[in-house]
Amino acid sequence: MDLTHRPRRLRQDRVRGLVSETSLEPADLIAPVFVDATTEERVPIETMPGHERVPLREVVDRVEEVRETGVEAIMLFGIPESKDPDGTRAWAEDGVIQEATRRITAETDTYVVTDVCLCEYTDHGHCGPLEEPLRGDGERVDGGPACEPTLTVDNDATLEALDRIAVSHAEAGADMIAPSGMMDGMVGAIREGLDREGFEHVPIMSYAAKYQSAFYGPFRDAADGAPAFGNRRHYQMDPANAREAMREVRLDVEQGADVLMVKPALPYLDIVSDIRREFDHPVAAYNVSGEYAMLHAAAEKGWLDLEEVALESLLSIKRAGADLILTYFAEDVAESLPA
Ligand code: PBG
Repeated sequence: MDLTHRPRRLRQDRVRGLVSETSLEPADLIAPVFVDATTEERVPIETMPGHERVPLREVVDRVEEVRETGVEAIMLFGIPESKDPDGTRAWAEDGVIQEATRRITAETDTYVVTDVCLCEYTDHGHCGPLEEPLRGDGERVDGGPACEPTLTVDNDATLEALDRIAVSHAEAGADMIAPSGMMDGMVGAIREGLDREGFEHVPIMSYAAKYQSAFYGPFRDAADGAPAFGNRRHYQMDPANAREAMREVRLDVEQGADVLMVKPALPYLDIVSDIRREFDHPVAAYNVSGEYAMLHAAAEKGWLDLEEVALESLLSIKRAGADLILTYFAEDVAESLPA
């Protein structure tokens, strides 16, 4: 055979590493941690094997476990002791995230990112206070006559709350703020709030292109944040849309976002890649709870090798253009990487 090109030459063992285009390191990963103000003991999350809701008194231990794997950053989610229509516990000085952040930053040098949203704090489970006609009558979101305007979360009232939450997290010592509610203007409102209170140095990682995805199912069990009625399609993005993601991202960039996130990750790698090409900001991807749960479920049946598919998934997300990855596999993958 007279073949000029034989790509297999570079797939031999000792040269593969030299020509590899993508690498994965513990420093690329952020591990989500759930802190639960309603419990004194760790509670395993059934739909996310290996993950738990931890009580405040154990949050530092939990973070130290993450650090032992080589992962240096965490994303904090909170389950508050009580909920109300406006989600007021989200910005309480003695709230679950504020207290957890104070403890973690006092006792470790972990980089603490906080999720800023209201869905775990509102009794109706939506990502902000509801518009006036809906208060006390949730049914109308999806149930009204076709000609009725769509009513859901009150965007601008939510912005005020997000400003307060972000400032309260920064006051507690959060290193980075990550707004996930998909409200119009959320990055600008938070940037203004942080700057006003002297937190100019705290970056914002915006969940810039967050889709209305069924892959969040396990998380909603974990964080007890499922909407009590309707769904989030009036604020999260339509999975059918890619150009709209560019518009969303551009708005966040204009409002001062430092890091641009796509969520979920694997079903939206085209979006990660588009953003990578269009913008020069760091790009993050959130490998969400459903992506984690489905690999675990298949592995449990003996249908997939969990360690290999986890590694391949994260590598693919990086290859598509993500600089950093939020993932429930962070600890396992970090431990399996060569030192
Ligand atoms: C909202 C939030 C959600 C997730 C992260 N932040 C849930 C939602 O939008 O319904 C999902 C994360 C995951 O599925 O792993 N605060």
